[in-house]
Amino acid sequence: MAENTHENTLAALGVTQPEQVAPLFMRLLGQATADLQAANSAETFEKFRVHWLGRKSGVVTLATDNWLKRASPELKRAVGQELNKFKAQLESQMEARRAAIESGAEEAVSPKDRVDLSLPGVVRPTGSRHLIRQVFQEIEDIFVSIGFSVVEGPEIETPYYNFEALNIPEFHPVRDDMDTFYVEAQAGAMTDSGVKTPPGSLLLRTHTSPVQIRTMEKQKPPVRVIVPGKVYRRDNPDATHSFMFHQIEGLAVDTDITFCDFTGTIEYFIKQYFGPSMKARFRPSYFPFTEPSVEFDVSCIFCGGSGTGANGSTCGKCKGAGWIELFGAGMVDPAVYGFVNYDAKKLSGFAFGMGMDRLAMLKYGIDDIQAFFQNDVRFLKQFP
Ligand code: FA5
Repeated sequence: MAENTHENTLAALGVTQPEQVAPLFMRLLGQATADLQAANSAETFEKFRVHWLGRKSGVVTLATDNWLKRASPELKRAVGQELNKFKAQLESQMEARRAAIESGAEEAVSPKDRVDLSLPGVVRPTGSRHLIRQVFQEIEDIFVSIGFSVVEGPEIETPYYNFEALNIPEFHPVRDDMDTFYVEAQAGAMTDSGVKTPPGSLLLRTHTSPVQIRTMEKQKPPVRVIVPGKVYRRDNPDATHSFMFHQIEGLAVDTDITFCDFTGTIEYFIKQYFGPSMKARFRPSYFPFTEPSVEFDVSCIFCGGSGTGANGSTCGKCKGAGWIELFGAGMVDPAVYGFVNYDAKKLSGFAFGMGMDRLAMLKYGIDDIQAFFQNDVRFLKQFP
């Protein structure tokens, strides 16, 4: 607020000559202008108005009383002129300020919170879909284009769906390859199919194959589905193994499906996904829920299929085989149809369970599966 010069007479301020009057009013106007800048709301503007124009003891009233009315005859004319000029300037500045406050241009915000539109913008990094998600989408698109639909199933399963209904009875040796994590369910808790579960009898599914059973229980043939999802095993981590990984299951069942339909579908998929030059092979295998069963391998892209790494050492990715196993598959074993009330005499079909992470590694040249799960943005940013 203003210095209190207006509370003294001109004589007390040492103003005795007419030319001293204009600078006095200029100083006063400077104080008024500074005060007005700080008035940025209706409330602070009103305080300003009372301080400067208040009828009884406002600055203008006091300046009129102390400077004009008590001025010596030689100064009176100059003081009258300067006072009028001062009042006109003050009023016009106040009018402009009032309009700015009323139009909302001057919010009651501290300078710290005001938006400075001249500053450069803040770039907020946007995320992108994880490469595994992108590959799921690529694979789904290929199978959907040839008549498959996409279904999903639970990650927490009962041993019945994960093993027994897939023709893997308790104590079958194949269960050793799929040791998993068991979950403590509360006594009497219900599964989604309404079965009461004894304590400790739920597990994290070891493959997406249980969704074959769930689909056939719900749906009459013909069936053509793929099932993307997460699976879990008690496997030790290395360049091609993780304890949590992703599979994409496929199942086609109808009255006349042959092994040729199966190999044709897989070859079509591999050509679409990898392009025409990928070297691949089927080899005989064993799964209790397919007969005959096969494994499907593709040539190791890291050693060019030679099995030998740098310096003549054994290739660490394919472990010297020259091939990397991509998935297991086969014709659905008739025993499985018995678990879902399908007529094994009339129906035939094929199924496969692909290792998604390995499909992604081979297509995008990623030499360690762990890179998918470490959340290192330098890795993730390479797949926007
Ligand atoms: C199965 O999981 C069968 N359910 C596949 C199947 C489905 C066979 C339908 C017949 C009919 P397997 O255990 O081989 O099969 O696993 C399938 C694929 O998952 C493997 O070929 C491999 O690509 C991938 N895989 C297996 N274990 C791991 C692991 N620990 N980390 C990453 N990928 C894995």
